[in-house]
Amino acid sequence: MVCLGNICRSPLAEGILKSKVNPEEVFVDSAGTGHWHIGNPPDERSIAVGRKYNIDITDQLGRQFSAKDFDDFDLIYVMDNSNKSDVLELAENEEQRAKVKLILDEVFPGENVDVPDPYMGGTMGFEKVYRMLDEACKLIAAKL
Ligand code: 4NP
Repeated sequence: MVCLGNICRSPLAEGILKSKVNPEEVFVDSAGTGHWHIGNPPDERSIAVGRKYNIDITDQLGRQFSAKDFDDFDLIYVMDNSNKSDVLELAENEEQRAKVKLILDEVFPGENVDVPDPYMGGTMGFEKVYRMLDEACKLIAAKL
């Protein structure tokens, strides 16, 4: 699960997907394309909305996406098109490029919908993000 800061959207996506899969079968992690929040816990507003739905993300720490993630992961879900271009810039071949998926393509195939960055907005943004990610993760977990 990849976003820009790895403190708002992707930690929630990580926590939500983890809650829907068998951890012995599926390893889920998240990262940011940016470096600003390496080692930081998730944003308080993501922690709060997760808690509201019984998803605990307080043990997560920010890390930056790197080219090595293409070797370590089978699927790379990005939150928006900007994340997608940043991640694709690090891809070296078609196999790696094929791993990168816009997460809301699961819900709205081919419509190119972004999970909006809630960082600058209010709490409602986080609620909306949570609902979008929950819907997408349900479909992802069913496929996995
Ligand atoms: P995220 O939100 O990509 O969903 O984690 C952001 C968090 C921090 C920043 C940008 C987006 N930032 O610029 O610090």
